[in-house]
Amino acid sequence: MESMKAKIQKIFKERFGEPGTLYASAGRINLIGEHTDYNGGFVFPGAIDKVIMAEIKPNGLDKVRVYSIDINEYAEFGLKEEDAPSQSWARYIFGICREIQKRGGTVKGFDAVFAGNVPLGAGLSSSAALESCFAFALNDLYNSNSIDKFELAKIGQSTEHNYCGVNCGIMDQFASVFGRKGNLMRLDCRSMEYEYFPFNPEGYKLVLVDSRVKHELKDSPYNKRRESCERVAKMLGVETLRDATMENLNAIKGEITAEDYFRAKFVIEEKQRVLDVCDALNAGDYETVGKKMYETHEGLSKDYEVSCEELDFLNDVAKTLGVTGSRIMGGGFGGCTINLVKNDLHDDFIEVAVRKFNEKYGHEPKIYDVVISDGARKIEEAE
Ligand code: GLA
Repeated sequence: MESMKAKIQKIFKERFGEPGTLYASAGRINLIGEHTDYNGGFVFPGAIDKVIMAEIKPNGLDKVRVYSIDINEYAEFGLKEEDAPSQSWARYIFGICREIQKRGGTVKGFDAVFAGNVPLGAGLSSSAALESCFAFALNDLYNSNSIDKFELAKIGQSTEHNYCGVNCGIMDQFASVFGRKGNLMRLDCRSMEYEYFPFNPEGYKLVLVDSRVKHELKDSPYNKRRESCERVAKMLGVETLRDATMENLNAIKGEITAEDYFRAKFVIEEKQRVLDVCDALNAGDYETVGKKMYETHEGLSKDYEVSCEELDFLNDVAKTLGVTGSRIMGGGFGGCTINLVKNDLHDDFIEVAVRKFNEKYGHEPKIYDVVISDGARKIEEAE
């Protein structure tokens, strides 16, 4: 953290002179509840100790000047709709500015330098971390923190919808803005009620295994999944699949495609699994938590079809070794598995997973021990 901060400060000084203010926001994990957010269901994420950090300073101009250390690119853009930059990373920042303005908030020109250690394409929501970092910062710098936290999350989500072409749900931005050290959060994406859950499973660790593959599929498969769900909800006459049961779904089975049927089946089953996992956690029953994680993987792989060969392989390795729970995490088509591993199996699991994956796919997966941390924040000098 210190070196990232020092690097940002050094480069900011070289490019823009007098120092600005530092902000950060986090990537996220999700214990269970995948593809449920845009269906009005439950999710169970937490922020992690991997962040995007930015130094920002008003520049008295009507334009934004921003440098990305990791991509080694500079972008400059105005604040009107027609000023949208072409670089995809800069469109996230532009989108945040525009979405704040659309809601009546103030954004004026600023200079910024940012960097991060949220792995890209790993399913840990580096984009939500970037959005939340700038949304939080611009709220602090120009709006006296008058925009509430839910609105900040929605500003990030609308940025994805309107400037980045992803019709995502609210989970990632919610986790990035609301994250709290040591806590997971159960969010009801219909009522937007949420609850913090202290998470420190005695005798277990959460381990992420990053396959480092990302299968970029054409024609936006994420948006297609969402469309399937919306089609079925419409057929059932409900607002979202949150309000549908398997009985309802089975009653219209003959009138919808097999594909839409299995997409909806997964969502209906998954929303219940989140509630079951919460009950199991309250009872300290980690075996049930793990069992549900495997069920989610199965559903994401077979019914929702967002897994891939490499992630199914990692899931099999975990199962064979007796890991308590394992599943693909995030939107899918590559990225990480999240694993609930007994302490005494931890080292073995990592050794075997890395070796076997490397033998089969010719590169090693990356391993991260998860530390559940704070979300969006201003960085105090001492941090
Ligand atoms: C991506 C989206 C989220 C959510 C997950 C799947 O991360 O941004 O809104 O839908 O996929 O659970």
